[in-house]
Amino acid sequence: MALRTGISSRILRSSSTFALRSMSSWWRNVEPAAKDPILGVTEAFLADPSPDKVNVGVGAYRDDNGKPVVLECVREAERRIAGNLNMEYLPMGGSVKMVEETLKLAYGENSNLIKDKRIAAVQALSGTGACRLFADFQKRFCPDSQIYIPVPTWANHHNIWRDAQVPQRTFHYYHLESKGLDFASMMDDIKNAPNGSFFLLHACAHNPTGVDPSEEQWREISYQFKVKGHFAFFDMAYQGFASGNPERDAKSIRIFLEDGHLIGCAQSYAKNMGLYGQRVGCLSVVCEDEKQAVAVKSQLQQIARPMYSNPPVHGALIVSTILGDPDLKKLWLKEVKAMADRIIGMRTALRENLEKLGSPLSWEHITNQIGMFCYSGLTPEQVDHLTNHFHIYMTRNGRISLAGVTTGNVGYLANAIHEVSKSA
Ligand SMILES: Cc1ncc(COP(=O)(O)O)c(C=O)c1O
Repeated sequence: MALRTGISSRILRSSSTFALRSMSSWWRNVEPAAKDPILGVTEAFLADPSPDKVNVGVGAYRDDNGKPVVLECVREAERRIAGNLNMEYLPMGGSVKMVEETLKLAYGENSNLIKDKRIAAVQALSGTGACRLFADFQKRFCPDSQIYIPVPTWANHHNIWRDAQVPQRTFHYYHLESKGLDFASMMDDIKNAPNGSFFLLHACAHNPTGVDPSEEQWREISYQFKVKGHFAFFDMAYQGFASGNPERDAKSIRIFLEDGHLIGCAQSYAKNMGLYGQRVGCLSVVCEDEKQAVAVKSQLQQIARPMYSNPPVHGALIVSTILGDPDLKKLWLKEVKAMADRIIGMRTALRENLEKLGSPLSWEHITNQIGMFCYSGLTPEQVDHLTNHFHIYMTRNGRISLAGVTTGNVGYLANAIHEVSKSA
């Protein structure tokens, strides 16, 4: 007995030493992750005590006093929801009503694809979640495929397809000198990609450049995609935010649909309904027929199941309450337009202020570009100068979020931009 106790206590001692050692070494190799460049800008802004400070790095809408906005239609929907519903799980594919209404926005109220049940669609964790779900789906069912991503793009696109282990290629998009679209090079890249390639396209209000193809250019892109048999995946994070009219902002998608493309689409209510933190969006994939759509949807749900099981209910209820009620929907359309109009107004004001200061540079691109962002053309050094001397914060690629520009700060911002760029 004594012998046995001795042995077992020795085993215990050595195994606990082992346990202690392994426990202390489990995370020894973990280095801090690189800081997200956008979140870093906000941190630095918050830490700056200057009363003059301006944050034009934010990716969220602000009113003319620089304050976050909750839309009146959202407040009303919340009043209607409050106290009325239980907290049960949604189905794996999310709220059927929300998805139905969301598809109408992207594909059109009278879409035959919707009528014929040819769209596989699930509620997603906002636009990011929709992109990620699609990237995983692409990897699972087209394991040898790659994704062509525009240069530049929203930085998270790279993370999303990287983590889904889909190899990435790039295609030309932004033209440095004209600060517009590099259409010729983009078309060359589309033509030179292997037939049947996957392309990521921003449906409207391209982030970070604010540069969108014209309707005519979209038609040419769609035609070339047809010739090459490419797959278009549209990321539509800003529907309504570009022109103020969600129908007009869906034009790129509609052109592809007219040409009979089987597209994929990520939709988000973060910006156009101001539901940033609610994480509500939708992933849809157009299929050949209803049978295929049922199969694709079941596979999308299968991918979601071990990740988050089913999506959150509250944001979906807000969306379906608004879009399902004609009066609330009308109010929403009015409020989206007001947000877009304020942004368009700030573009004009910024350009006019710079021109009034006698800037020797052309600032036409500020009003030519569209959506929340303006790719100003400021260099990383000029951005550093703006931050260090004028307390103006933005990402070092020179992207200005018009959401952070107000009637109160536009003069100060223009003056600072003029000071750092006049001798360039
Ligand atoms: C181009 C683009 N796609 C997707 C998203 C995703 O946003 P969210 O996941 O908040 O809907 C954003 C947000 O900034 C974006 O700019």
